[in-house]
Amino acid sequence: MPNILPIAKMGHPILKQKAEPVDLNKLDQIRPLVEDMTYTVHSMGERIGLAAPQVFQSLRLFIFRIPEKLHPRYGGGLLTPLPMHEVINPEIEVLSDVKIDGYEACISVPGLMGEVSRWEHIAYHYYDLNGNKHSMEAKGFHARVIQHEFDHLDGILFPQRMNNLDSFGYEDVVCQALNDKQLANLC
Ligand code: NI
Repeated sequence: MPNILPIAKMGHPILKQKAEPVDLNKLDQIRPLVEDMTYTVHSMGERIGLAAPQVFQSLRLFIFRIPEKLHPRYGGGLLTPLPMHEVINPEIEVLSDVKIDGYEACISVPGLMGEVSRWEHIAYHYYDLNGNKHSMEAKGFHARVIQHEFDHLDGILFPQRMNNLDSFGYEDVVCQALNDKQLANLC
């Protein structure tokens, strides 16, 4: 039976560290961690991803999923869904010179959200738990998620990426303000 893991919150030193690569010869040893991370994130409702440093493991590993519909707080719209899966020792390649603004939230920054500028189009390369190498292209929200999770592996949280702290606030309050301006609904 997997376990619900404790979550490191903003201010904890482990979230500021550069995480260590996973030893690809010992992938079996991290399988229980990936199972616990998956169980933990599913226990928290409609969350998108979780990186190992957020559960006090300083390793270059995260899990994420892409839902079919984007939450209105992130701009709404339909997406190409991906199931929750692991991304081990990722590398990112930027494929555009365009950055787009969008709202982000984070399990380690509970209750808060803010606007962050991210590369619109990237490729990323990673290993799965079976040691297979994958290369993927990502645009828009998918690209944003990868950049957010990758930042966790380098000790960076989304507030450190914000250019304009005016957009930073509590999710319910910011969503209501966006609703009032008809920039979002159903937040
Ligand atoms: Ni996060």
